[in-house]
Amino acid sequence: MYPDIDEVVYSRAVIDERVKELAAQVLAVYREQRITVLVVLRGAFMFAADLVRHLPQDVDVQFARVRSYGNSSRPEHEPEVLLPDDVDFEGTHVLVVEDIVDTGHSITAVGRHLAERGAADVRICAFLDKPTRREVPVEVEFLGFTLEGSPFVVGYGLDHAGRYRNLPFVGKLRADLIPAE
Ligand code: IMP
Ligand code: MG
Repeated sequence: MYPDIDEVVYSRAVIDERVKELAAQVLAVYREQRITVLVVLRGAFMFAADLVRHLPQDVDVQFARVRSYGNSSRPEHEPEVLLPDDVDFEGTHVLVVEDIVDTGHSITAVGRHLAERGAADVRICAFLDKPTRREVPVEVEFLGFTLEGSPFVVGYGLDHAGRYRNLPFVGKLRADLIPAE
C-alpha cells in the first residue's frame, strides 16, 4: 500500500491518543481564555485540524506560511514568515501549531514576527521535535513526540517534495528516497 515507507513510526491510533492528551494540556493552560491558534502551513495542517477539534473554548484559527531557504547548511538565511495581514495580533494569546521543530529557525522567526505585531504571549505546540538538530534554542511548551536519532519522516502533514502529506500515520521514508543534506 505504501511502498515508499520503510517503517511506521507513529500509527494513526497512537497519534490520535497523543493529540487528545495534548489538547488536554493546552486546555489546562489556557482554560476559558480566548486564543488564536496560528497554524504553520503547510506541514501542520493535519495536526492542527485534529487538535482544534478537541478545544472547546473560543478559538480564532489563523494560518501562517514559513518559507525557509535551502536547509540548515545555510542558516544565515532568515526564513520568510507570512502572517495574515488582516488579523490584529495586538494583545492576543497565540498558540503556534507547527509540524516539526528541527533547527529551530522557522519557529523562532514566527515568534519574532508575532512579537512585532504585538502578541501578548506566544506558546508553541509542535507535533514532532528533533532536539539533536537544534541550532537555536526553542521552548516547545506542548510537544507530541520526540524523534530519536532525527530520521527524515513523512506523513500526517509532513512531506518530501510535496508528497506523502496525506498519509494518516508518520513513517520513515525509504532510505534511497531520503533527501541528501
Ligand atoms: P527548522 O526548525 O527551521 O529547521 O524547520 C523545520 C521545518 O523543516 C519543518 O516545519 C518541516 O517543514 C521541515 N522538516 C524538518 N524535518 C523534517 C522531516 O523529517 N520531514 C519533513 N519535513 C521536515
Ligand atoms: Mg513546516
